[in-house]
Amino acid sequence: MNTAKNSRVKSFAIIAAVSTLLWGCGADDKKVQLTAQQEKQVAERIAPVGHVAMAGQVVAAATTSAGAARSGSDIYSTNCVACHSSGVAGAPKLGDVAAWALRLEQGLETVYANAINGIRAMPARGTCMSCSDDEVKAAIDHILDNSK
Ligand code: HEC
Repeated sequence: MNTAKNSRVKSFAIIAAVSTLLWGCGADDKKVQLTAQQEKQVAERIAPVGHVAMAGQVVAAATTSAGAARSGSDIYSTNCVACHSSGVAGAPKLGDVAAWALRLEQGLETVYANAINGIRAMPARGTCMSCSDDEVKAAIDHILDNSK
C-alpha cells in the first residue's frame, strides 16, 4: 500500500523534472528578428546621450527655444552631426556631393518629408522631437548648402 503510493509520488516527481527540462530548451531556438519600428528604436538608443529624445519626453531645448526658431546649423550640430558627419548606418554625409545629389533626385519635398517622418535607419526628425518641421528643413538646407 505504502510502497505503491511512494512509487506514484516518485514517478510524478520524475515527470515534473523532465517536463521542466524540456520546457527550458525551446527558448533557445527563437531567432532575433527586429521589425522596422524596433530597428528605428535601436538607432535612437545608440545615438549619443544628450541627442536622444523619446516620444513623450519633455525636452529641455523645447522650452529654451520657445519663440525664436533655431538655425539650421544649430539643429544640425545638436541633432544630426552624430550620424551625418561619419555616415552612421549609411547616413549620407555632410559634404558628400554625390550622395546628396542622388537623394535629391526624388525631389526636395520628399527628402524633407522623409527626414521629418523617418525612413529606414533615419529616425523621425533625427530624434529631435522638439524640432518643428521648419527647423528640420533648415537643418537639411544647412546640410545641402554644405554638400554641393
Ligand atoms: C541615428 C542616426 C541619424 C540621425 C541622428 C539623423 N539621421 Fe538623417 N539619416 C540617417 C540614415 C541612416 C539615413 C539614410 C536612410 C536610408 O535612406 O536608408 C538618413 C537620411 C537622411 C536624409 C535623406 C532622406 C532621403 O529622402 O533620402 C535626410 C534629409 C536626413 N537624414 C536629415 C537628417 C537631419 C536634418 C537630422 C537632424 C535633425 C538627421 N538626419 C539626423 C541617420 C540619422
